[in-house]
Amino acid sequence: MSINRQLLLARRPENRVSIDHFDVVEAPPPPVEDGEVLVRTRFLSVDPTNRVWMKDVPQYMPPVAIGEVMRSGGLGEVIESRLDGFARGDLVFGMTGWQDYAALKPGGALGLAKVPTLPGITPEKFLGICGPNGVTAWAGMIDVARVGEGDVVIVTAAAGSVGSAAGQIARLKGARVVGIAGGPAKAAKLVSDFGFDAGIDYRADDFADQLKAATPRGADVLFENVGGAIMEACTARLNPRARIALCGMISIYNGGGSARHDWSVMLAKRLRVEGFNLIDCGPIWAQAVRDLSGWLAAGQIRDEETIVDGLEQAPEALNMLFDGTNVGKLLVRVS
Ligand SMILES: NC(=O)c1ccc[n+]([C@@H]2O[C@H](COP(=O)([O-])OP(=O)(O)OC[C@H]3O[C@@H](n4cnc5c(N)ncnc54)[C@H](OP(=O)(O)O)[C@@H]3O)[C@@H](O)[C@H]2O)c1
Repeated sequence: MSINRQLLLARRPENRVSIDHFDVVEAPPPPVEDGEVLVRTRFLSVDPTNRVWMKDVPQYMPPVAIGEVMRSGGLGEVIESRLDGFARGDLVFGMTGWQDYAALKPGGALGLAKVPTLPGITPEKFLGICGPNGVTAWAGMIDVARVGEGDVVIVTAAAGSVGSAAGQIARLKGARVVGIAGGPAKAAKLVSDFGFDAGIDYRADDFADQLKAATPRGADVLFENVGGAIMEACTARLNPRARIALCGMISIYNGGGSARHDWSVMLAKRLRVEGFNLIDCGPIWAQAVRDLSGWLAAGQIRDEETIVDGLEQAPEALNMLFDGTNVGKLLVRVS
């Protein structure tokens, strides 16, 4: 008899997340209704938004309720299908949640989709560079920032999953790209491994001077993942009529930090600031995945993954996004 381990949100974290914020329960796998598939989770996608979903604050989706299975994107194998077009053994992605088994149906935020089979691309890439994170980078850089030949682009949280993809997309479109990351090793990696033109450590005492030196004629695009003081330093380097693709503000998700910003700079420089969200990306999804998988297969972009083993490690793994101990896409391997 299969057991479904589930992590139910028991209390809302103030800052760091631990297993103590969850009740770990064991239940039978859920029944499968007509129009659903039963999925056994293989990988969980660990995302900054998991942390936001734990908070009882206004956001783009309802917060996870106390007592509810922690919401999460994931990838798994169909164990039983009562849905046309899906069969036992298919690999799919959708909102599995932090549990071993989920009954999923099409629709909703991440929907339910078969993982494409493409030569040289492992299934878990469709949770990262060829999935939500890559699509976010594509949407922000191409649709929102409309990056083009000769643009100077700054990317924050640039060694992460979205940031590393965003910077590489901008370079493919002919831009000069400056990435910002925490620590000298990550800053160097932006250039050596992800092909950025410059990498800057935001923890360095002379961060603002280094940023100025890397953008001698200012910058035309800011792909913003962090917010706060780092965003202010980057905004100071923007040229008149530059564009900010506002993707995320990870510096405020875990408690502390400030989202306040000096809007007079936006006005004086006539900046175009546009927030965007993956949940609106349905119309561009297929095109973005086609581009990203093609670039990846052709070796024009690269990605990295940080994999943590064990469902019950998911809360601690989430902290890695805020400690900066992940490089590229952070996944939890469940089975
Ligand atoms: N708009 C959307 O639809 C959408 C979709 C997906 C993700 N996002 C956003 O994209 C951003 C990146 O997400 P991701 O999944 O790709 O995560 P990620 O970049 O792989 O991991 C997060 C990284 O953020 C950096 N970081 C954490 N706290 C920080 C702080 N206080 N100051 C500066 N840097 C900090 C860390 O890198 P360092 O070691 O460099 O500090 C960490 O590795 C997040 O803001 C997320 O909310 C938005």
